[in-house]
Amino acid sequence: MATDDSFLKAVVKDTASAFERALDQHPSRLRVREIGIVTYVTKGIARVSGLPSVRAEELILFPGELLGLAFNLDPDEVGVVLLGQGEHVEAGVEVRRTHRLLDVPVGEALLGRVVDALGRPLDGAGPLRGTRRRHIEQPAPTIMDREPVRVPLQTGIKAVDALIPIGRGQRELILGDRQTGKTALAIDTIINQKSYGLICVYCAIAQRSSAVTKVVADLREHDALGYTSVVVTTGDDPPGLQYIAPYAATSIAEYFMHQGRDVLIVYDDLSRHARAYRELSLLLRRPPGREAYPGDIFYIHSHLLERATNLRDDRDGGSLTALPIVQTEAQNISAYIPTNLISITDGQVYLSPQLQQKGLLPAIDVGRSVSRVGGRAQLPAYQKVASDLRLTYSQFEELEAFSRFGTRLDEETSRTLERGRRVREALKQPQYRPMLPAEQTAVLLAVTQGIFDNLDVEDVGEAERRVGRALMDGLPEVVARIHAGDDLPDEAREQLLDSARQAIAGLQEE
Ligand SMILES: Nc1ncnc2c1ncn2[C@@H]1O[C@H](COP(=O)(O)OP(=O)(O)O)[C@@H](O)[C@H]1O
Ligand SMILES: [Mg+2]
Repeated sequence: MATDDSFLKAVVKDTASAFERALDQHPSRLRVREIGIVTYVTKGIARVSGLPSVRAEELILFPGELLGLAFNLDPDEVGVVLLGQGEHVEAGVEVRRTHRLLDVPVGEALLGRVVDALGRPLDGAGPLRGTRRRHIEQPAPTIMDREPVRVPLQTGIKAVDALIPIGRGQRELILGDRQTGKTALAIDTIINQKSYGLICVYCAIAQRSSAVTKVVADLREHDALGYTSVVVTTGDDPPGLQYIAPYAATSIAEYFMHQGRDVLIVYDDLSRHARAYRELSLLLRRPPGREAYPGDIFYIHSHLLERATNLRDDRDGGSLTALPIVQTEAQNISAYIPTNLISITDGQVYLSPQLQQKGLLPAIDVGRSVSRVGGRAQLPAYQKVASDLRLTYSQFEELEAFSRFGTRLDEETSRTLERGRRVREALKQPQYRPMLPAEQTAVLLAVTQGIFDNLDVEDVGEAERRVGRALMDGLPEVVARIHAGDDLPDEAREQLLDSARQAIAGLQEE
C-alpha cells in the first residue's frame, strides 16, 4: 500500500509539474474558460447552464455579439437578461462569461448626442470620440459626501419656481395621467438651463419613437441639445434595454457631476421602467408581489434616485438633480409605483387632467404639489410673493367651488374671486417660454397686490408681457439684485409695483 501511495504521489507531482511547464511555455493558450449552454430562451431572457462561478450582473456573451446580464444565480442555472434582440439565440447555443460588468461611454462627447441604453449612437452623427467608460451601477454617494441643497434649479415656469421651488441636488417627482404635460414640463426645464449652464440628460424609457423624435427636435430647435445628452429606449426595445436605460443615463450624468458640474436628469418615465422590470422578473420566475411587481421594485427605484445629490465642495462639488416622471392611471396616485416614488422623492409636481381640459396650462395642481427641500434654495425675492400667492390662490379655489351654488356674494368675496381669476390667469404659461426669476416675481407681485384687478381677465397675458418688459428695460439694478439672490428691500418692491402700474396703464384705457 505504501508503495502505491508514493507511486500515486509521484504521478500527481509529475503531472502537476508537466502542467506548470506547459503553462510556462504557452502562457496565453491555457486558460480556464467556462462555456455555458442556453437551455431556454424567450423574448427578453435566456436561461443558461454550465456557468457555476458567474457573478451577479456579469456580462454574458451570446452568439452574434449579443450581450446579456446575469440576473438570477440559481445553483444549476443562470437567468440572463438579454440586452438586444435575441434572434441568434436558441436552446443549445454556447455562451461565454466576460468577467466584466456593464459600462457605458461617458464624457463631453455625449453632449448633443442621442444614444441607446448601451451608449451606441442612434443619431447617425458618427462614433463618440474621447470617451471613458463608467459602470452603469454605482453606489450612491454617502451622507459624508453630501451637502444640503442650497442653490435653486430654475425651471423658468412661474408656478413651479414660485410655489414648488426645486433645488439643485433634489429629486422632484413629476406625476400625472397621460397627456397632462409631464414631458413638456421636463423639456421646458431643460431648455431653461441654457441660462444657467447646467448639463442635462434626458432618458426616454420604452417610449414611442415618434415621441422621442419630437423631444429631440424640440431640444434642437430651442438650442438645448448642445448641452444635453439623450438616452433612448423605445417600446420596441427588449425589456432588458428598457430596464438598464436609467442606470446608463445616470452614469453619463454622474461623470459631469464629478467634474464639478451641476447636472439635471429627467427619467421619462419610471412607470414604464417598473413595467420592464416586472416583465423581466416574471419571465425569470421571480415571485410577484403587489400589482405583480417584484418585491424589490421599491429598492430598485430608491437606489436609482439616491444617486442624485449635491456633492460637498471637497468631494468634486457638482450636483445631480433628478426629475423622475411617473404616469398615473385615472388619477390614482395611491397605486403602488406612484406611492413608492412619492415616498422616495423630495416632493412632487402634480399635473391634473381637469386643469389640462380647462386649458389652464401648465396643468399644475398647486394644492397637491409640494417641494420638501426646495424652499431653502429659493431666491429670496420669491419669498416676498410666494406666501401671498399661495394664500390668494387657495382662498380663491375654495370660494370658486362654493360660489357655483349661485349664492349672492358679498363685496369682499367677489373681490377675492376676481383677483383669484387673475392670479390663475397669470400662472398660465405657454410651452418653450421660460421666464427669468425677476420677470416672474414682478408679475406675481403685481397680480397678488391687485394691480391687475381692473383689467379684463383676457388681458392678463398681455399685461404680464408689458410688466416683464418694463422691468427689464427700466429697472436693471432690481433685476440684478433678484438674480444675485439678494433680499428685495421694500423700496425695490415699491419700484416694481410702480413700474408694473405704469406698464399696464395703456391697457386699461384701450
Ligand atoms: N404649458 C403648456 N402650454 C401649451 N400646451 C402644453 C403645455 N404643456 C403641455 N402642453 C401640450 O399638452 C400635450 C401633452 O403634453 P405631454 O408633455 O406630451 O404630456 P405627457 O408627457 O404628460 O403625456 C402636448 O400636446 C403639449 O404640447
Ligand atoms: Mg410624456
